[in-house]
Parts: sequence; C-alpha cells; structure tokens
Amino acid sequence: MTVPHDVEPATTGRLTCGSLRIDDVGKEVVLRGWVNRRRDLGGLIFIDLRDRYGMTQVVFNPEIAAKAHEIASDVRSEYVLQISGVVRERPEGTRNPKLATGDIEVEAHEIEILNTAKTPPFEISQATDVDESVRLRYRYLDLRRARMQRNIILRHALVRAMREYLSERGFIEVETPTLIKSTPEGARDFLVPSSGHPGNFYALPQSPQQMKQLLMVAGIDRYFQIARCFRDEPQRADRQPEFTQLDIEMSFVDQDDVMRLIEELYIELTREFSDKRIQEIPFPRLTYVEAMERFGNDRPDLRFGLELQDVSAAFRETGFRAFAQTLESGGQIKAIVIPSCAGYTRKQIDELTEIATRAGARGLATFAVTAEGIRSSVAKFLGESEIAAITSGIGAGEGDLVLAVADQPAVVAKALSALRDEFGQRLGLADPNVMAFCWVYEFPLLEWNEEEARWEATHNPFSGYLAEDAHLLESEPGAVRARQYDLVGNGNELGGGSVRNHRREDQQRLFSLMGYSPEDTAIRFGALLDALDYGAPPHGGIAMGVDRFAMLLANEENIREVIAFPKNQRGLDLMFQAPDAVGLDQLGDLALTLDESRRVRLWESAEEPEDES
Ligand code: AMO
Repeated sequence: MTVPHDVEPATTGRLTCGSLRIDDVGKEVVLRGWVNRRRDLGGLIFIDLRDRYGMTQVVFNPEIAAKAHEIASDVRSEYVLQISGVVRERPEGTRNPKLATGDIEVEAHEIEILNTAKTPPFEISQATDVDESVRLRYRYLDLRRARMQRNIILRHALVRAMREYLSERGFIEVETPTLIKSTPEGARDFLVPSSGHPGNFYALPQSPQQMKQLLMVAGIDRYFQIARCFRDEPQRADRQPEFTQLDIEMSFVDQDDVMRLIEELYIELTREFSDKRIQEIPFPRLTYVEAMERFGNDRPDLRFGLELQDVSAAFRETGFRAFAQTLESGGQIKAIVIPSCAGYTRKQIDELTEIATRAGARGLATFAVTAEGIRSSVAKFLGESEIAAITSGIGAGEGDLVLAVADQPAVVAKALSALRDEFGQRLGLADPNVMAFCWVYEFPLLEWNEEEARWEATHNPFSGYLAEDAHLLESEPGAVRARQYDLVGNGNELGGGSVRNHRREDQQRLFSLMGYSPEDTAIRFGALLDALDYGAPPHGGIAMGVDRFAMLLANEENIREVIAFPKNQRGLDLMFQAPDAVGLDQLGDLALTLDESRRVRLWESAEEPEDES
C-alpha cells in the first residue's frame, strides 16, 4: 500500500519520530512524542518515542546526562515528552530493520515531561484484541494505535484522491445543507425540531439527492461532494446512521458516461491504495435479472463461481409432492454444487439447513455424490433421472455436495445466495487479495409494498426508466426496468445511481403510480417538480459509499474501523454518551413533551448499554 503516512510536516520544519536516518548521525535534535515503551537495562534507559510518523529509540545514559536519566526513570507509557540530544549510529547488532529509524538512536541530553498520562485501559503499542465497546469509549486512545492511524490516514488519502480526480475533470464541489425538509427516501429521517418555529421540523438529509438534481437545473453540470448522509435505520457491519458518500451528478449524460467515470476512478483508487488485483477490467456488467438468476443476489461476490442452477425443468412430472407443489404454485427448484463436501456429516448438513431456513426456505435438499452412489435427504422420493438431473446434470462429480431449494424465486435466491456466500468463505474461495468489481443494472423500477398496498421505488423515486418499458408502466409496473446501476465490489454494494427523470410529466407519472396524490407530491417534492418546469437538462449521477470502500481497501470487516468516531452497533456514541435525555426546559423551548411511558434510560447505570454485536 502506498499510503503517504510518513509524509513529514515540511511546512513546520519540525522533526518527527519517523524522520531520522543514518545520514543524520551527529546532529543535535529535539523530538516530541508519546512514550511507546520504556525499558530499564542495567543503568541505561531506553524509551521508544512515538508519533504518527514513526518511532525513535532514545537512550538515557546516567554518565552522559544524569538529570535526564533520573527524570526518565519516572516516565511511564503514553507520557508526552520533549527530548533533546544527539543522533548516534546504533551499535552493530542492535539495529532494527523493521523500523525506518532502526539504524539510529538519540542519545538524550535533556528531557521535559510535557504531560503525564494515566495507564490507558488497553495497550496502545500493541495490536492486541480489545473489546470494541472499550475502544469506542476511549476512541482517542484507540486512534493512537497503529491500525487506526493507518485506516484514518488511508481514508484521508482516498478522499483526497477522489477530490483531485473529479476536480481535474471539471467537477465542482458544492456543499449542500444539512438541515432540510423531511422527504421519503427509503429509511427513516432524523428530525431536528425548530425552536424558532415550534411544531416544525427540519430533517437531516438521507442523501443530497434532490439538491444535486437542483444543481443540474442550476447549470452546475458536473457536481460532486463528499457528503455526510443520515439514515435512522438498523445498524449492520456495513451501515452507520451517519456515513459519507462521494456524491456525483452530471448533465447531458447517459448510464455509460457515469459508469466509465466511476470505473476509471475505482481502478485508480484500488491500485493506489491496496495491493489487491482487480479481477476483471472492464468491470463485468450484469443485469439485475442475470445477477439474481446466477447468484441469487443483486450484489454478487464474483471472486468465486458456485452459481445457482435451475433444475425446475427436470421436475415438471415429479412424483415428489414438495417439489411438485412448489412448481405448481409458480416456484422453482435451484441448486448449487459445492466441491469436495460430500463427506459432510449429519450435523454439518443440519447447520446448512439452518442457514437456508433462516433465509426463509422451508428446507434444504442435499445430494452427496459418493463412490457408493448418491446419499440424499430426499432420494427416496425421486426417480433416477431426476436424481441425475440434479447431480451430474449440473456438473456435480464424485465427492461433491449439491444443495437444492424449492420455493418461490425470491426465497430460493435468498437461501442459496446465503449458502453460496458461506462456502465462498468456508472454502477460501473469496480471495482477500482480489477485488472483483461488477456493475448491476436495469433494476426493477418499482416494487409492491404489501403493507402499504402501493408501488414504491426500489432505489430512488427519481430514477428514470427504459423507454422500451414505458408501455408497461400502468399495466405491469413491476416489470418496468429502471435506468439504475449499482457498483458492487466483493459482494458489497459500493455505490448506486441512476439517470433521472428530467421532465416533469415523467416524474409526476411515477409519483402517481407510487400512490402520491398531486397535493402530496406538491408538499413533499414541490421544489424539485417546480424546477423541472424551468428547463431541467437530462441528467444522472451516482453516490459511492466512502466508508464501505475504505473498509475494503483497509481489509477491515466493519465500517466502524475506518470512521474516526463511529456509533456502535446500536447507534450509540459510547464516548459522548449520545443520544441522551435533555432537560424539560430544552424540550419546552421546542414546544415538545415526552411520552414518559416510552422513555428509554440509556446511561443511568455505571455500565455501558450492552453492545449486541
Ligand atoms: P444509496 O442509498 O444507494 O443511493 O446510497 C449510495 C451508497 O451509499 C452507501 N450507503 C451506506 N454506507 C454506510 N452506511 C449506510 N447506512 C449506508 N447507506 C448507503 C452504499 C450505497 O451504495 N441518492 C442516491 C444515489 C443516487 O441515485 O445518485 C443514494 O443515496 O455504498
């Protein structure tokens, strides 16, 4: 990785704990930093002085500087010191090739304790495992550790490279407001009460979507922003209630223009900030339908195969009731071949069944292809040709295990995709040194919301649709394809965008399909709709999740590792203890009263609220 972590503060001229080399031997220097470690060795005291640029060994010799030696003997880990002395070559045999400053040491003449430190709740100098709630509570100490320093600096360099790439291509960074109006955009809004206007609320933006479209109407034809977004939704490893997007919008473009721009950027960033090999360039493009058919997932991990295979045709006449009924009710039967797992025990198979049922399947049919024949949970219900169709017919050979699910397509996809991902990990097929990007496009524009009995946007209510599907809008809304595309990397949704509706009538038509009355749309989306009346150019864009990409580049499993001050799994800030109750006077100013019966007391016990992760 080429993260410029050892860049010196050249403008200040200050020496750092990472700067001294063999050529500096003999120089008088002043260093400041934290005590990483102190060792008392037969009269000599060694202190490793650390800052974000590196570490330098400082030696205190009582015969050279008695006072400094005396002070150094009281120094403890994480004290902040200023040390003056002379750079010496380290004696032969004591050099440390792992350290950039490992050829030298500083012979201390003077020492000043700039500040003392309590014993930290965990080792700063070592990469030991520490409970995450303790790390988050003392985040400022956690951030001192090498891993977090590396991640935070990586993130800085990443964002800087994004800014440079876009600025060089004529994009203008525009800041958009954080206090906006609540509009439905998928997740729940965070609301901000207005004291000046009691009973009225701002909302924090889930994304700058409408603002960036308005900027297109304003003639800022290439916009970007490193934008903070806020979504009140359940947390996961790749989700935070506030997160950062690289947000982009462009005028007079089609889908290919946006994809090309991002593809080139992400190739550059991957090469600059990781050692990962990009699996395929140009990035493969899969329609949503293809991704779902082959992988059961609209963000497939393409580092490995294990594709889903449809064997429904072989069971049209089956006597096995479970399969027959599934097919009669519009379902399907699909299977994946797992290499070399025919020896799985009953217990292991039960675990796999558990994964399938957790994903909503009623069960999992398994077929182990062994030298003695097929061992299967359902073989006794099936004919020979049926068994052949679901084993050798889809390429399973001796030693392989076939996993099959019969259900409605969405359930089959979810269950087999979960099993596919499980085996990608288990069999080591998801190579961490590879970055497999792909585009998934032509998502369905609308999906049926059972609860609210209305169509809603699958992604974003402003996405345009394919012209050739326009005739289906009223007759078969679920079949209309959106001009929507997602960038996927190693099974993560890294970004998504669309070509928008730039004509009012198209947008209005969609809103009415989604069940919004003209009055509703005027209240919720009035500004954008009005703007479309004033010469809105054709436009489209995308938003890339910065945290998620930084997580992949840093080889981390969780976006909290690349965010300086994240919330925990429950959306809590353990350091500041937020959210927190506020005084009645503050509520009064906002003309709010609280339903005491629903109040949760978060911070009253001495212990932190338990982290579910
Ligand atoms: P979307 O909602 O797909 O699109 O978001 C874009 C990208 O942002 C990242 N992301 C998140 N990262 C961390 N925590 C979260 N809670 C979170 N939610 C989303 C993902 C995702 O792909 N305005 C549209 C974009 C557009 O159409 O231009 C939007 O926000 O990587």
